[in-house]
Amino acid sequence: MPSDRFLGGLDPISPLPAVRRFQTLELVLNLLGIASVSVGTLPELPHVVRLLAAVVTGLVATFFLLAYAARLWWVPQWRRFQTLSPAKARWKWFASPVGLVDLLAVVPAFAALSGGAHLGAESAAVFVLLWVLKLASRSSGVLLIWRVVRNERSSLGAAAALFLVVLFASATVAHWLEADLQPERFGSIPSALWWAVVTLSTTGYGDVVPLTPLGRLLGGVLMLTGIVVMALLAGILATGFAEEMRRREFMRVWGLVSRVPFFATLNGVAIAQIVGHLRSGSYPAGATLFHRGEAGDAMYFLVTGSVEVRLEGRVRLLHAGDHFGEMALLDRQPRSAEVVTVTPCTVLILNVADFYQLAAQYPALMAVIEAEAQRRHQLDGETNPGG
Ligand code: CMP
Repeated sequence: MPSDRFLGGLDPISPLPAVRRFQTLELVLNLLGIASVSVGTLPELPHVVRLLAAVVTGLVATFFLLAYAARLWWVPQWRRFQTLSPAKARWKWFASPVGLVDLLAVVPAFAALSGGAHLGAESAAVFVLLWVLKLASRSSGVLLIWRVVRNERSSLGAAAALFLVVLFASATVAHWLEADLQPERFGSIPSALWWAVVTLSTTGYGDVVPLTPLGRLLGGVLMLTGIVVMALLAGILATGFAEEMRRREFMRVWGLVSRVPFFATLNGVAIAQIVGHLRSGSYPAGATLFHRGEAGDAMYFLVTGSVEVRLEGRVRLLHAGDHFGEMALLDRQPRSAEVVTVTPCTVLILNVADFYQLAAQYPALMAVIEAEAQRRHQLDGETNPGG
């Protein structure tokens, strides 16, 4: 029975640090594998470098093969598959997009085993393709694009339909107008489509151009329509990205808010409202969040980690669940202390405008913050009576 840590190391959704380390190792080896295969295709390289590249490629391929076998073996113990029978769990992962891409990434190992180390440039190119595919399947950016396209499929479909209608209509009209003058380029609608695609996409190779005045007019209109369609597509994708990023941040902040006791008294509706005003931030140890004397533009809730509040001549330590940076907002005074992270920290940040808005909406919450600020003022006044 493997240890939980090892299991975690092979479970892509587990948040254990061992998982992250395993994923980092896999990523590094993936990049190394792509680099070694690419280098191996350079014909002018010395024999020893090519041999080294082949060895690295072989090691990476072996690693992927072992990782695939291990994943397949331990899939039934992953949290998300625990409700299924072992055979069903294995099948589900095997047939999933990530499972299939992982299977493809193992192909180079089999090719190397059957063909020896001296594989041709064509097989090497396939390796690169398969390993790039594996890299893409783990990339959060690619998954983000996939989600955006899926969310916006109806708008993108409408824009694509518009593109196709304009494309075919213009190819047909161009065929009528230009077929007599240029039969080899506009003699049929399919052959006129090449000109329509090149013009509508505003690429304009210039290899096919209309010669009749009406054909040129059509070309001009098509170019302008192409710009409009591209702008439409760019707008849909940009909005989709912004929406998806907002949704992700909302979910992240939602998860963090539930870990701050300060918000524990709020009901679901109030939390949903507050979450919309908060943003999250992660800082390494030793990072200065703000300096003493600065203008206060936000207050902070410490979700994980510890920070040092560096007052004049004294230091106070704050831990997960504490808040800070409220005094400058309440008193409309500069920051009374410098705040520096002691350990890696995750914070929730409430900017000044949202702070005043929430103060009006949730007086009970503000009363808690004000009471703590009062206590801190007293404490600071006692330890620094002249300050
Ligand atoms: P602010 O003045 O905006 O910036 C510095 C912050 O340090 C301050 O708000 C408080 O949140 C925090 N702070 C000040 N004095 C103390 C104290 N005695 N104990 C804990 N935190 C404090």
